[in-house]
Amino acid sequence: MTDVRKVGICTGGGDCPGLNAVIRAAVKTAIIKYRWEVIGIRDGFDGLIWPEKTRPLQLADVSGILPRGGTILGTTNRGNPFAYKRSSDGIETVRDFSPDVIRNAKAMGLDCLIVIGGDGTQKIALDLFHKGLNVVGVPKTIDNDLSATEVSFGFDTALHTATDAIDRIHTTAESHHRVMVIELMGRDAGWIALHAGIAGGAHVILIPEIAFDLDRVCDFIQQRNIFGKRFTIISLAEGVKLPEELERSYVEKYGASPQLAGKGNVIADYIAAKSNKEARVTVLGHVQRGGSPTAHDRVLSTRFGSAAVDLIAEGGFGKMVALRQDSVKYVDIGEAIGQLKVVDPKGELVRTAKSIGIHFGDE
Ligand code: F6P
Repeated sequence: MTDVRKVGICTGGGDCPGLNAVIRAAVKTAIIKYRWEVIGIRDGFDGLIWPEKTRPLQLADVSGILPRGGTILGTTNRGNPFAYKRSSDGIETVRDFSPDVIRNAKAMGLDCLIVIGGDGTQKIALDLFHKGLNVVGVPKTIDNDLSATEVSFGFDTALHTATDAIDRIHTTAESHHRVMVIELMGRDAGWIALHAGIAGGAHVILIPEIAFDLDRVCDFIQQRNIFGKRFTIISLAEGVKLPEELERSYVEKYGASPQLAGKGNVIADYIAAKSNKEARVTVLGHVQRGGSPTAHDRVLSTRFGSAAVDLIAEGGFGKMVALRQDSVKYVDIGEAIGQLKVVDPKGELVRTAKSIGIHFGDE
């Protein structure tokens, strides 16, 4: 047991259903089990740069937040204290605030900081650890692409939202005999598009891990027509790599460094022109990140939040909680970051999808 009396907690990067459940479990465990004080740090690491953005968290502060989406602490995906960007009068400046973070954490008497965040946030946490701040990590991403953990909370909720959307698309697609592209989140990995595509009965799944040829997809759509299936649903991960020619028109349409959303439009245009069918696009976007976490995500978040506090009690600084063989384990943050968990194109899930006739545009 370490001599801990006060811990901080912050959420960094994009929000995700289950963050509040993690905060609640961590605060409850720290206060009920260990009798520690907890300080809530607002907006990622910003609260350690500007300490007026912090507040003590009591049990009453986390009462009722279990089913709430978002994060009561606020978050940002632009707040790297090592290279903090600010702009004033059109001039952008970059400053290293990490000494302020370390100094303020010490002044607040924080014995450790619980950092809930994805790959980028955990990398910052590790750098702060190397500069002398005790940290423990809780992995977070709806994309489910962190290799350290079998599953991350938020993924199940996003999947339910995406599957519900595909169910709704189904009836309108069938009625109008259309090709419907539903664009789902997944920057580097196609987990949501793959799982939701299978769960929602999509006919085509396009993900970053599998290179596809849209002419093959068009042939497949024609085959479906011949068999009397006059509609097709395409589950698309936003991070797919477009064929060169389409990538050019995508960049023309959305700019040189586009946000990911929008690839569905160029794909739908191509299919409509080539297969002479009406095509429509639904970009589900941040709907997938919002809303109340599913029961699965609430349980996983609670396990992670509570285990993070136990990890501090054991003195496991520089480590992160993770799910391995359905048990919560501790892993070094350094080993956990930088390695994405992507869909195996030859894996069981893709093979199952292919066995039931789902097309990936690759053969
Ligand atoms: O990494 C999680 C994620 O939800 C991605 O799937 C998506 O591309 C990205 O965040 C969106 O980020 P932002 O909220 O900054 O647009």
